[in-house]
Amino acid sequence: MFSINDLEITRVERTRVNDQPLVNLPFGKYFTDHMLEVDYVDGAWQKPVIKPYAPISFEPSLAALHYGQAIFEGIKAYKNEQGEVVIFRGIDNCKRFNVSATRLQMPTVPEDVFIGGMNALVKLDSLWIPLVSDHSLYIRPFMFATDCFLGVKPSETYKFMIVLSPAGPYYAAPLKILVEQHYVRAVKGGVGYAKAAGNYASALLATTEAKAKGFDQVLWTDPFEHKYVHEMGVMNVFFIIGDKAYTPSLEDGTILAGVTRDSIIVLLREMGFDVVEGAINIDMIVEAYRAGTLREAFGTGTAATVSMIKELQYQDVEMKFDIDAWTVSPALKTALTDIRQGKTSDRFGWMHTV
Ligand SMILES: Cc1ncc(COP(=O)(O)O)c(C=O)c1O
Repeated sequence: MFSINDLEITRVERTRVNDQPLVNLPFGKYFTDHMLEVDYVDGAWQKPVIKPYAPISFEPSLAALHYGQAIFEGIKAYKNEQGEVVIFRGIDNCKRFNVSATRLQMPTVPEDVFIGGMNALVKLDSLWIPLVSDHSLYIRPFMFATDCFLGVKPSETYKFMIVLSPAGPYYAAPLKILVEQHYVRAVKGGVGYAKAAGNYASALLATTEAKAKGFDQVLWTDPFEHKYVHEMGVMNVFFIIGDKAYTPSLEDGTILAGVTRDSIIVLLREMGFDVVEGAINIDMIVEAYRAGTLREAFGTGTAATVSMIKELQYQDVEMKFDIDAWTVSPALKTALTDIRQGKTSDRFGWMHTV
């Protein structure tokens, strides 16, 4: 049985870190010098290795390509004002990764391998952490089935990997959102709560159609009435109405339990808001908009951080917002950024130093 203490590191001969300036980076385009790789064979995790970032090759019968046993996570690392390399709530992503693994009939990854491997990789490639605002080192852990076999059954072998990408913001501008009225992302009993690769593939068509109509994303709704809101693309959703903040509950397993969502709930309560996690009927949002009590609407996610919704369309109702007058979402974004950059105390214990 291997542990993170067996980690073997092979370094690149020449770093690529100076090949492009780490400013104005698109999301997800560049990758650092190294990657982590751990194989699951004969019912056990093998020796963890860090090696130069490079292509990997497989037979065309690779199970993940045919039957979709593939999951991932998204985490961010920063260099704080004290010069330390810090990671935001990685342990929570590790736990969620293993929830996804269990749902997809994949082996769980031991916490010491996930966290220890991530720390070692981020430390090794820490020169790749961008130091400009709204940028970070995006950490992408993932696992996929590696049996070379055709036939629907859980694979017997898997590969767990982590790659790192220096990245700018996922959404650079406030969002124009369409409340989805036809397609469905998730149902109770399904895989909505898992970060399964297939969830993103099945969401593409709705998003492409919404983009063709001039929107940035869809706000998914329940599968029966298309009235109860779920989440958007790679974000959870929040509405501020009066002195209350509303976000869909995690109860029926249709939405991803966002780590940012959880952090925003904590920060909103600290700011004095009454946070309601429940079933949110779009009619309530429309009524609040018409009554002038809908103060703000925004999405939250690791990649997207806090993204304001400037326009929300439900059927033929167009809700347009004067986002320049908003105070809550900018304050939340600042509060999160300040904790990550070490400008304010890490009072909730969200940061860990590598
Ligand atoms: C479907 C979906 N919902 C919500 C989120 C936000 O989750 P988190 O805040 O953990 O990044 C993400 C991004 O990870 C996502 O992919």
